[in-house]
Amino acid sequence: MVERRVSYLRLSVTDRCNLRCRYCMGPDGVPPRRHEDILTYEEILQVAAAAVPMGIDRFRVTGGEPLVRRGVVGLVERLVALEGVREVTMTSNGLLLPDLAVPLRAAGLSRVNLSLDSLRADVYRTLTRGGSLAAALAGLAAALKTGMSPVKLNVVLLKGMNDGEVEDFAALAATYALLVRFIELMPLGESHSWAGVRQVPEPVVLARLARRGRLTPMAGIPGNGPAAYYRWTPRRPVAGPELPGVSPAGDGTATLGLISALSRPFCHTCNRLRLTAEGKLHGCLAKEDGVDLREPLRGGAGPEELGKLVAMAIAHKPLVHDMDGGCGALRHMSRLGG
Ligand code: 5AD
Ligand code: SF4
Repeated sequence: MVERRVSYLRLSVTDRCNLRCRYCMGPDGVPPRRHEDILTYEEILQVAAAAVPMGIDRFRVTGGEPLVRRGVVGLVERLVALEGVREVTMTSNGLLLPDLAVPLRAAGLSRVNLSLDSLRADVYRTLTRGGSLAAALAGLAAALKTGMSPVKLNVVLLKGMNDGEVEDFAALAATYALLVRFIELMPLGESHSWAGVRQVPEPVVLARLARRGRLTPMAGIPGNGPAAYYRWTPRRPVAGPELPGVSPAGDGTATLGLISALSRPFCHTCNRLRLTAEGKLHGCLAKEDGVDLREPLRGGAGPEELGKLVAMAIAHKPLVHDMDGGCGALRHMSRLGG
């Protein structure tokens, strides 16, 4: 039995998004959901408060795109204020950060992870079905300017689309004080049928980087998650794209992470739970089973009963995923909160 302390809960506040990334959603986005199917902020806070005594002290607010739900800054503020909470972070595509980065920082948000899969405007537009790279970079700049640190970029690599940009992202990480993580495409939801042909395995990414610089594995992992981290020192000086108003605070070397669910499964170290916007608590994003909290919440369950349900979800966390086995990995990431 592997010892794991589950200490981290991702809270999806909506499964809607202002982008339509091809591996995540269909062209029409997510099916519309009735307002009353989605947990209220009050209910999300009840779950969070009940999870703290069960050992959960870090929360990540996700979506879909969390910033499209009105009032999310207030949720962050109230999560931060919960007794026993160490850290509240967010995963976002960044498009709304030019307006919201400062209020989020003021609300006590510790850090953001930004999903940004291409630094080329045409590729970004194609991958996200219409998104504007300029808007995403403005969001990144806004996050960096608040001083939240480290800002992490999540880059899902897709063969033939953005795999030629590995070095460009590394250059970005060397130029600014941010950290880039390359993510292996997982066969989930929308990409279930075609992930195999677009996958860029971790060894391929490492080989690309090694051709252009020196890679040194990092011992102390920055942030505890599934990524393997490397320091990358380019052979020739590199420069990332200009981010207006952001000082190039990098030191010329890059911190790069690789998250490779298929090449290097990390389930046994996974310390997180996920709450969907509809109130299901999941131990693993590749499994269909989940503990429903919405019914109990609306039936008047108190903190103790909710805490027991959280403990049940923790106890049922699997030690391995079965994504290769074609199991129930059909749920969409937008509903699970990444
Ligand atoms: N495989 C890998 N990563 C995914 N994400 C969404 N769907 C997939 C998938 N099929 C990523 C997003 C974002 C994070 C929340 O999850 O790009 O960075
Ligand atoms: Fe939106 Fe993130 Fe899905 Fe892209 S991957 S459509 S940004 S939720």
